[in-house]
Amino acid sequence: MRTPIIAGNWKMNKTAAEAKEFLKELLPLLAGADCEAVVCPPAPLLSEVAKALQGSQVALGAQNVHWAENGAFTGEVSADMLLGLGVKYVIIGHSERRQYFGETDETVNKRALAAKGKGLTPIVCVGETLEEREAGKAVTLVQAQTAKALAGFTAQAAGEVIIAYEPIWAIGTGKTATAGDANEMCAAIRATVAEVFGTEAAAAVRIQYGGSMNAKNAQELMGMPDIDGGLIGGASLTLDFAKVVNYNK
Ligand code: PGA
Repeated sequence: MRTPIIAGNWKMNKTAAEAKEFLKELLPLLAGADCEAVVCPPAPLLSEVAKALQGSQVALGAQNVHWAENGAFTGEVSADMLLGLGVKYVIIGHSERRQYFGETDETVNKRALAAKGKGLTPIVCVGETLEEREAGKAVTLVQAQTAKALAGFTAQAAGEVIIAYEPIWAIGTGKTATAGDANEMCAAIRATVAEVFGTEAAAAVRIQYGGSMNAKNAQELMGMPDIDGGLIGGASLTLDFAKVVNYNK
């Protein structure tokens, strides 16, 4: 059985002081959750947030990682730096990085391979634009993104990653994919993992839905058979995140 996993992507929000205050209120509400909960603050807050998370069951995630060990890559962070701060998960290839920062399927793959190789668990993001959906290309495109992101992985490693299906038109817009549509795409992603890596990897891989997931729609989305979790943006910045994590209570 796949353990559900809900991750909060804070994006470029909160100062260290704000994060500390927020977590003081949030963490007690997450105690005893049935699923795995993760918070992904901006890189400069990781150290402060790691301290705050000590003694809780909430895991720490980062929002990006570079593929090189170290070197002249201004503005990037390495897997070892993240591991040194207690980071377990790392978001890779978020659509905002693809859209605004030149992230490609190839760099997503390099980051994911390096992260997994170092022992971080990648949360690899895939998803289509509204145009692509309306043109009927969404499934083919997302399946191709998935295969490219995981190129070079072993079946074992592929089964251990997390894939976040985030339709771009649903991110930060208040428009959520219907639970049926979201599940259909998550099933298509799982089918690609099965095709490339085999049925064992496909049964193990955890697939999240992301895009305006919130306290109101979490239960329905999480009830779908191929949706194993959520990647939460806006709703992860408030105490609503606790309601999403406790979707079944
Ligand atoms: P949203 O963001 O929940 O604000 O739509 C999700 C994401 O971008 O990961």
